[in-house]
Amino acid sequence: MTLMQKEIFEQPRALTECLDYNHKTLLDLTQRLKKESICNVVVAARGTSDHAGIYGKYLIESLVGTPVGLSAASVVTLYGGKVNYKNMLVIGISQSGKAADVLEIMKQAKQQGAITCTITNTLGSPLADCADFHLYCNVGLESSVAATKTFGAQLYLMAQLACMWAERDDLLKELEGVPAYIQQVLDKNDEIAHLAQRYRFMDDCFILSRGINYPVALESALKVQETNYVRAKAYPISDFHHGPFAMVEEGTPILFYMSDGPAKDDSYEMIRKLQDVGADILMVSDDESLLKEGSVGFQIPCAKKLDMLATFGFAVFAQLFACNLTAVKGRNPDAPRGLKKVTVTK
Ligand code: F6R
Repeated sequence: MTLMQKEIFEQPRALTECLDYNHKTLLDLTQRLKKESICNVVVAARGTSDHAGIYGKYLIESLVGTPVGLSAASVVTLYGGKVNYKNMLVIGISQSGKAADVLEIMKQAKQQGAITCTITNTLGSPLADCADFHLYCNVGLESSVAATKTFGAQLYLMAQLACMWAERDDLLKELEGVPAYIQQVLDKNDEIAHLAQRYRFMDDCFILSRGINYPVALESALKVQETNYVRAKAYPISDFHHGPFAMVEEGTPILFYMSDGPAKDDSYEMIRKLQDVGADILMVSDDESLLKEGSVGFQIPCAKKLDMLATFGFAVFAQLFACNLTAVKGRNPDAPRGLKKVTVTK
């Protein structure tokens, strides 16, 4: 078994432990956010951690109503910019806790009086130690170059934070079910392995979704890029209409993540256009009618019309799909060419 597969399968237990560990810190953090009437958030992160941050942006904006911006780190690290982070929450996400550019943002944010929070999987790391609040993924050492279980934990922490801040006990209850929910996807790994065989010769593809699940399309693209060297590009379907669609031709592989939630109705126009051109659609969904629209489909468990819950099923599918594709293509996901586990950028 590869390290990547082993770590994907650890997620149900890891997420349970992540939740237990962080409950008190999340309570303290959200109480402080409410007390100080924080009305702006900035997220700084790279790669997979950035995708978890974008998920958090959708959730905080839609549930709390507070705008969330994504930090352009080079403003500070290359251009010497002094950004005013006063009265904001600044969140830095880095599984290794070593992201140098994220650290610079956090230092500046602290100097300027922001509330600072970091999410890492490494106690004692520079990012774990630099902030007012540290949320610890607590998923055990991640050895696989491709981040998987840390991504699950980052998503889980962002979802908890948004729901606690918004005082949505109903959604927090749903989040308790995430470990069991993703176990149901893991139980279908043989089906995913079989499906991956269909993509033996795939060199490029587009990965589409919308809204809260757009970041999972980004992460799905990153997983097949780094482990299979597939030139994958992710778009929200809203943007895909505005130009990129012209690249689609007969047989173009499309991975489509869409749940029976608020974005569903909007997806049909894109599906029809793709079908008219003869694109090859792999539909990943919890919705019977959407599944029928794909050239092939994969059913995730019912997400009760909650896009934020479907994300977890999509994420595990994306990880298993990339991992199984490596077996089909004869790649080693634990030794992707030109990559190492920790990449530091300034
Ligand atoms: C992809 C991956 C990278 C990291 C990125 C940030 O699987 O692992 O994209 O997410 O290099 O790393 P951290 O989170 O350690 O700052």
